[in-house]
Amino acid sequence: MRAKPFEAAIFDLDGVIVDTAKFHYKAWKRLAGELGFAFSERENEQLKGVSRMESLDLLLRAGRITDVTPERREAWASRKNEWYKEFLATLTPADVLPGVRNFLGLLRSCGIKTGIASASKNAPLIMNKVNIGPLFDVVVDGNSIVRAKPDPEVFLQAARLLGVAPGACFVFEDAAAGVEGAIRAGMRVVGIGAEQLLARSHLNITSFEQLEPVFLMSHIGVANHTGLGDGLNE
Ligand code: BG6
Ligand code: MG
Repeated sequence: MRAKPFEAAIFDLDGVIVDTAKFHYKAWKRLAGELGFAFSERENEQLKGVSRMESLDLLLRAGRITDVTPERREAWASRKNEWYKEFLATLTPADVLPGVRNFLGLLRSCGIKTGIASASKNAPLIMNKVNIGPLFDVVVDGNSIVRAKPDPEVFLQAARLLGVAPGACFVFEDAAAGVEGAIRAGMRVVGIGAEQLLARSHLNITSFEQLEPVFLMSHIGVANHTGLGDGLNE
């Protein structure tokens, strides 16, 4: 079956637009240290894309910590978030990942709609710090969804607000949970990062600097705008 033409690009935020994934890891590692266990970068991969409280549960499982009261869970999660926000305070517009602004600008000049689909409740703060809001038509984040990735809710809500069918959306994700959620939403996915972690994505890249113009040519068919010859327009 022929895929729908590409009409909208939906981006995860943490680890895709800004390298906040490393701040999440540092803050969780610090909490693990205070609770008396080591927490590796490899173990941290599972936390990417999932909500704050689910991340805490995964961390506690890694540390074999059980029978935690709801009050203590809340207290640990907010402690981690305070440390995380100290890192966020250092963000500036220069922290937007290489190639991102250029790629977003190109998409918009081709008439492609753009959205954010993030699990983070800190998304408004981050977007404000790096001043990226004007490049997106809609933002759906952890403050407006009920079910976290890999549930497709965040992606479907973004597509609905954009007025675009899921099959006409491309998602850009750095987390396995996000890739899974986008696939469940019926969208095509570009995975950013290590291929083995994002095995289910339709295309894998390590940086947005790699994407244009090849991606635009083969998926949008806007070659005439960019002077690159004929696009394929799946
Ligand atoms: C996702 C991150 O974007 O947001 C996860 O990949 C994080 O690591 C989740 O747990 C929730 O973020 P926050 O900022 O609400 O704690
Ligand atoms: Mg991410």
